[in-house]
Amino acid sequence: MSWTVYRHYKGNRYLRLGVAAHSEDLSPQVVYRCLYDNPEARTWVRPQGMFEGLLEDGRRRFTAVGQVRLVGPADMRTVLGFGFDAWHEGRSFDEYCAAKDTDRNHLRGTRYLLEDAAGRAVAAMNVIRFSPLVIGFASVATDPSQRGKGHSALLVRAVMELHRFLHGDVRFLLFSEVPPSVYERHGFRVLPPEHQRFLPSVAMATGDAPLSGEEAEPLKAYF
Ligand SMILES: CC(C)(COP(=O)(O)OP(=O)(O)OC[C@H]1O[C@@H](n2cnc3c(N)ncnc32)[C@H](O)[C@@H]1OP(=O)(O)O)[C@@H](O)C(=O)NCCC(=O)NCCS
Repeated sequence: MSWTVYRHYKGNRYLRLGVAAHSEDLSPQVVYRCLYDNPEARTWVRPQGMFEGLLEDGRRRFTAVGQVRLVGPADMRTVLGFGFDAWHEGRSFDEYCAAKDTDRNHLRGTRYLLEDAAGRAVAAMNVIRFSPLVIGFASVATDPSQRGKGHSALLVRAVMELHRFLHGDVRFLLFSEVPPSVYERHGFRVLPPEHQRFLPSVAMATGDAPLSGEEAEPLKAYF
């Protein structure tokens, strides 16, 4: 499964979800999702010819800038290499990869990968659906040679919008190992002290309401 990320000529980015037939004339319509906070709407449709077409000045209306897809077995060593520098704990890369065979978070999650416009894998993350409306993120990591280019921010946002489209008003959880401001820009908030069990990793969640008991449960044994 894969979803292409586009940059609109005015600068905003979108995730292409698929193509639908117009109910009146069966014409193909691209269904796509904002990767920014648009108060008017998050999911949009546009005739496929227009989506893929050119502006009057010859520029593309939407330019593909990358692709989000599920990680397959053949990608796993590449993906594990992205966070190795931060999480190796003195192990060799082979030892680090082997330890994943018994890592509960690794085994229970669904991994997503971002490829850049050239098709190169640049960032990955693990998504754990704890319950229908509670989704946890883990192991967000970018290829060390590709950091600082916005890849992890783009992947996190694309995965959030994909899951909001699929599941509605879900709540996202994570433990941040970078300054919380990195995730606050995606709507995450630092949780109160009673949820901070794994400091210095900071527990965060989307939404302003206090977590319910059910929502907070996964935070107790996150790792
Ligand atoms: C943390 C990590 C995923 C960031 O990936 P990245 O692709 O370089 O991040 P981005 O380029 O998308 O950065 C998005 C923003 O976060 C900021 N940011 C990223 N990492 C940061 C850090 N360690 N400290 C402070 N700010 C950071 C960037 O400056 C950027 O802000 P800007 O848009 O204002 O410039 C990457 O450094 C990494 O893989 N580290 C090792 C694994 C790890 O620690 N993962 C974190 C798990 S919570």
